[in-house]
Amino acid sequence: MAAVGTITEEILELKRDRRAVLLAHHYQEREIQELADVIGDSLELARKAQEFEGDVIAFCGVWFMAETAKILNPQRIVVVPDREAGCSLVDSCPVEQVRAFRSRHPEYAVVSYINTSAAVKAESDILCTSRNAVKVVQSIPAGKPILFLPDINLGTYVKQQTGRENIKIWQGACIVHATFAARRLAALRTEHPAALVAAHPECPRDVLSQADFIGSTSAIISWCAQAPAREIIVVTESGVQYSLGKMSPDKQFYFLANENCNCSECPYMKRNTLEKLRDCLRDLQPRVELPEELMERARLPVERMLALG
Ligand code: 13P
Ligand code: SF4
Repeated sequence: MAAVGTITEEILELKRDRRAVLLAHHYQEREIQELADVIGDSLELARKAQEFEGDVIAFCGVWFMAETAKILNPQRIVVVPDREAGCSLVDSCPVEQVRAFRSRHPEYAVVSYINTSAAVKAESDILCTSRNAVKVVQSIPAGKPILFLPDINLGTYVKQQTGRENIKIWQGACIVHATFAARRLAALRTEHPAALVAAHPECPRDVLSQADFIGSTSAIISWCAQAPAREIIVVTESGVQYSLGKMSPDKQFYFLANENCNCSECPYMKRNTLEKLRDCLRDLQPRVELPEELMERARLPVERMLALG
């Protein structure tokens, strides 16, 4: 414990010296969330990145989230504890394939999930997150065909919610949420018959069909706090336990485990540690650096999304 106390002090001192803000996604380790100025889902963190005073953003999340912060704050330094904190959805969607689709189908509006590279964002008409994807798609004129990328499960959910037939959906998936199994969820519900179920829309359709609530990470946490149940099965990354415990101390939460690891942790998110956070504040590396021209093109679809409220 003494060592943790020391590193915490080092981080807080570096944070002051660097005039840094520490943004943490809900999937970060508890000790990182405890130090954060703001904890949030991808939409909240994108908004927060625009609002603070200071010189440095230490982004405790994954690389695409930090790139979004950089796109919105080109003058600031944005660092991430671990450069390898990636995302399977980003990997599933190479920019060359998006460009090829656009040139073959110029009539399509490209709606990209925030879980994409800066280069893919720059090829998009508008971005969305799991919190606002339905609203973003509804904002596009009814007759316009849409390419929704890259998450197949979120895309399928949005298609069903909006009733839009003219949506093509990319075939990417989240290695955490896509591997939650309906069979395991059904068994957990049988074990806890009084429990309600909250799930993230990156989960497969047969998991979502068992959910009482479907929403983004922060939406799940808020819903659990006001839901009329003492027991809730949560089908998302288990880092949300930190905020669930703070907001709903009297409730009992059960986490569904993935098929492949018997846990529900994102291996990319969990690459960030307190030691790496200290080092990135000290060295100002790994740092997000993007060409000005790319940031300018990528900013437009991000700002279109943020303007929707
Ligand atoms: P949120 O928008 O809920 O933060 O989701 C981001 C993410 O990566 C989920 O896996
Ligand atoms: Fe990407 Fe899934 Fe990890 Fe979220 S949980 S960062 S979508 S791999």
